[in-house]
Amino acid sequence: MRVGFIGTGEITTAMVRGLAGCGHQILVSPRNAKRAAALAAEVPEVTVAPNDRIVAGSDIVFLCLLARLAEDVLTGLPFRAGQTVISVMVDAPLDKLRSICAPATDIAITIPLPPIAHGGCPLPVYPASPALQSLFGDRNLVIPLKDEAALAAHFGASALCATQLDQIITVADWLAGFTGDRDAAESYVAAMIRAYLPQHPRGGELPEALRMLSTEGGFNATMHAAMAPSRGILRSALDGFRKRLGLPEKDEASE
Ligand SMILES: NC(=O)c1ccc[n+]([C@@H]2O[C@H](COP(=O)([O-])OP(=O)(O)OC[C@H]3O[C@@H](n4cnc5c(N)ncnc54)[C@H](OP(=O)(O)O)[C@@H]3O)[C@@H](O)[C@H]2O)c1
Repeated sequence: MRVGFIGTGEITTAMVRGLAGCGHQILVSPRNAKRAAALAAEVPEVTVAPNDRIVAGSDIVFLCLLARLAEDVLTGLPFRAGQTVISVMVDAPLDKLRSICAPATDIAITIPLPPIAHGGCPLPVYPASPALQSLFGDRNLVIPLKDEAALAAHFGASALCATQLDQIITVADWLAGFTGDRDAAESYVAAMIRAYLPQHPRGGELPEALRMLSTEGGFNATMHAAMAPSRGILRSALDGFRKRLGLPEKDEASE
């Protein structure tokens, strides 16, 4: 496949690393110039090319810009009917992409995260995209969604990552203060949390795991009680995304 990336930032770097060695020809934008040059030096399949040559020379084009720049950067590029376009941009809905990328009609939106560089990344997508499945499906979990609102909600849910990582880092720092071994502390905390997170948790498995940690007077129960206000904070931070994501102000399911 000839795979192009418009915008060479954090997420393009991770996706290109995830495609390295898979036999694709990869074209990336000259911006960010430093990153593009480093990626071309690191991954032999990568060529740096101007945006119009990327669109003209790719079977699949990934749009990896900040959404506020999308219209200016993408308008006038030689998209064509029959070409696949996959956006990773939050704040760029399908209607807008369809008008900017016409006459291309095979357009999908997905949510890659930096771990896509090594695999194991969930990839919610709407609409279903055979191209995304064929490029990344072997090493990542592609999750086709039923509508664009579900995809928007997944963008909101993906906001958990930084907070969760921050908690793991805080605990590892605390532990290393006593053991003196920062790497071992981080390994321990990460492995402990990973052990609770199967790729396909059965219904109720995570609440049951939480229940098993509720021994009265136990360290987990004590900390969980102390942190109880954070659940409300988390929920209201998620709800704070509703307007931006175009989600209803109240859960339709609860009406
Ligand atoms: N990072 C994540 O974990 C993540 C996850 C899911 C989705 N996303 C989405 O991915 C998109 C990119 O995020 P990012 O984190 O990769 O941002 P980023 O690191 O800031 O990358 C954006 C890139 O766009 C480039 N750019 C600006 N103007 C351009 C132009 N005219 N032509 C070509 N490239 C141009 C920038 O180059 P300069 O540096 O030269 O300006 C930069 O390399 C966003 O819409 C974000 O919502 C990101």
